[in-house]
Amino acid sequence: MPEYEDKVLHEADGIREYDNPMPGWLMAIFWGSLVFAAGYLIFYALSFGEGTMEAEYRRETERALASVQAYFDANPLVPPSAAALLAGAADPAVLQVGEARFARSCASCHGEKAEGLIGPNLTDDHWLHGGSVDQIFQSIAKGWPAKGMPPWGRALKPEELAAVASYVRSVQGSNPPNARPPEGDPVAPEPISPRS
Ligand code: HEC
Repeated sequence: MPEYEDKVLHEADGIREYDNPMPGWLMAIFWGSLVFAAGYLIFYALSFGEGTMEAEYRRETERALASVQAYFDANPLVPPSAAALLAGAADPAVLQVGEARFARSCASCHGEKAEGLIGPNLTDDHWLHGGSVDQIFQSIAKGWPAKGMPPWGRALKPEELAAVASYVRSVQGSNPPNARPPEGDPVAPEPISPRS
């Protein structure tokens, strides 16, 4: 204590307050973080060039979209023929795959029995985007993203995509309970024709 005798600031009732210097390592961290903060601010927040977080975000988004597009270009989605989809609607093995996929990916919006929930009733003969199996397949594959119908063309395997379209065709006219009222235009269902 005697070595700091000259640095006593206050003394009260024998309790002394000293004016000791901060330890060097603590001062180094203090000044270091000030310098770092200034550099960080200039580099990330104030520079309006390529260093900004916004520019970085844009670059990464562009890169991701380009890789998605490259995948699309390399793997074009080949729609199955209407005949194959209609035949699938009479094939229990296909319908099993389609029904399982529907329960997992579609029922949350279209209802467990496709009776309609957030999304339209898929069992009636009214369609917003066309009721031919081709059009149903396209609705499923490309979605109507602006209207809340996600695109499934890349999320599902091609055979699942076809199976779910066949399944949707197969529940036409099933009249499930609590059905959502018809939306869109009436379309006569295409005849299901088993594979010969
Ligand atoms: C996040 C909710 C959601 C999910 C999940 C969803 N859909 Fe949809 N779907 C919608 C909405 C909402 C519409 C209506 C779009 C519109 O109003 O144009 C729609 C429309 C459709 C249509 C067109 C209906 C018509 O009247 O033309 C079909 C077919 C369809 N969905 C099938 C499916 C299938 C099959 C799946 C599962 C692979 C699925 N949907 C999953 C919300 C969903």
